[in-house]
Amino acid sequence: MSKNKTTIITEDPSLAAKILKEGGIVLFPTETVYGLGADSRNLSSCLEIYKIKNRPADNPLIVHLGNPALIPDIGEVPENARILIRQCMPGPLSLVLKKIDKSVFSTGLTTIAVRVPSHPKALEMLSYFGGPVSAPSANLSGEPSITRLDDAISEFDGLVDLILKGSDPEIGLESTVVDFSISPPKLLRPGYFGWEELQKYVPDLEDYSLLKEGDIVSSPGVKYKHYSPKAKVIFTENQTPDRESAAIGISLTRGWKFALDLRNNTEYMKNLYSFFRDCDRLGISKIYCFPPAKASGKEALLNRILKAQES
Ligand code: TXA
Ligand code: MG
Repeated sequence: MSKNKTTIITEDPSLAAKILKEGGIVLFPTETVYGLGADSRNLSSCLEIYKIKNRPADNPLIVHLGNPALIPDIGEVPENARILIRQCMPGPLSLVLKKIDKSVFSTGLTTIAVRVPSHPKALEMLSYFGGPVSAPSANLSGEPSITRLDDAISEFDGLVDLILKGSDPEIGLESTVVDFSISPPKLLRPGYFGWEELQKYVPDLEDYSLLKEGDIVSSPGVKYKHYSPKAKVIFTENQTPDRESAAIGISLTRGWKFALDLRNNTEYMKNLYSFFRDCDRLGISKIYCFPPAKASGKEALLNRILKAQES
C-alpha cells in the first residue's frame, strides 16, 4: 500500500478516540505489542485494517475494551471464565466467547475474542472511546509484531490516521488466547500466561496442540505464516558461534556477528521481536535462537520461535 496518509503522531488519548469515532485507524501501544485499532462497529474501518496489514480475510480480530465490566455485553461469559477475568484483567489475556453483540465486527464467526489491555495509554484511549475497538498486532501480516515506537513509526507513518505515543510494550509477545466458546476451554495461544498458570484457575483447561518438552515438530493446522523475520530462524541447543550469524538466548557464548545475551525469560520475551527486526536491518541471514529458561514464559517463547522457524 502507498504511504499517502497524513499521520498524526500524538500522546493525546482523547484525540485517538476522536479519530476512531470518525472511522480512522489508530496505532496504539498495549502491554503486549503495538496494535492497529478501528471502531469494531464500523465495517469499512475494520476492513481497512486487513488491507493495511495484507491480512488473510478469514483471520479474526480481537475486540479491545476499556473495562472488564463491558465484556458480558459483547460475548457470553461462562461461569469458569469469571475467575480469569477477575485475576488477569486488565492484562495480557484474550478470551474467545460466543458472540452476543451482532454489531461488532467478526469474520462471519459466531465467536468473538475480547481483551482488556492494562497499558495506561490504551486504557485511556478505550475509555474515551467508550466502545469496542478491534485490533490485531501492528505489523504486516506474517512479520514479527512491533514492540518499539521507532519501528511503529517507520512501518506505519503514512498508512494509518494516528499513532498514539506511550511507553513501549513491557511484555513483548502477544496476549494469551483462551477459547471459552467450547467446553472444556482450550488454550489457543500461550503468552505471558501459559497453561500452567491458567490451569490453577481453570483445572480442565486443554493445552494447545503444539509441542511438548523438547519437541520441534511443526504444529498441524497452523494455517498462516507468523512472526517471522526475513532471516532464517533456527532453534538450537548447541550451535557453535560463527561470524556470519546472529544469536539470541540466555547466557550465550561469544563469537557471533550479532548477539543478544539475556538474563531470563522476561527479557527474552521483551526483546525477541525487536531483535528479529534488528537482524533484518543488518542484513543477517541466519538467526539462532537458544532455549528459554525452564520458567514462566517458556511456552510462549518456544511457540513464537518455532513458528518463526517454520515459515
Ligand atoms: O496482544 C495481543 O493480543 C495483540 C494486541 C494488539 O492486543 N493483538 C494481537 O492480535 O495479537 P492478532 O490479530 O495479531 O492475533 C489475534 C489472534 C489470532 O491468532 C486470531 O486468529 C485469534 O487471536 N482470534 C481472534 N478472534 C478469534 C476467534 N473468534 N476465535 C479463535 N481465534 C481468534
Ligand atoms: Mg498478529
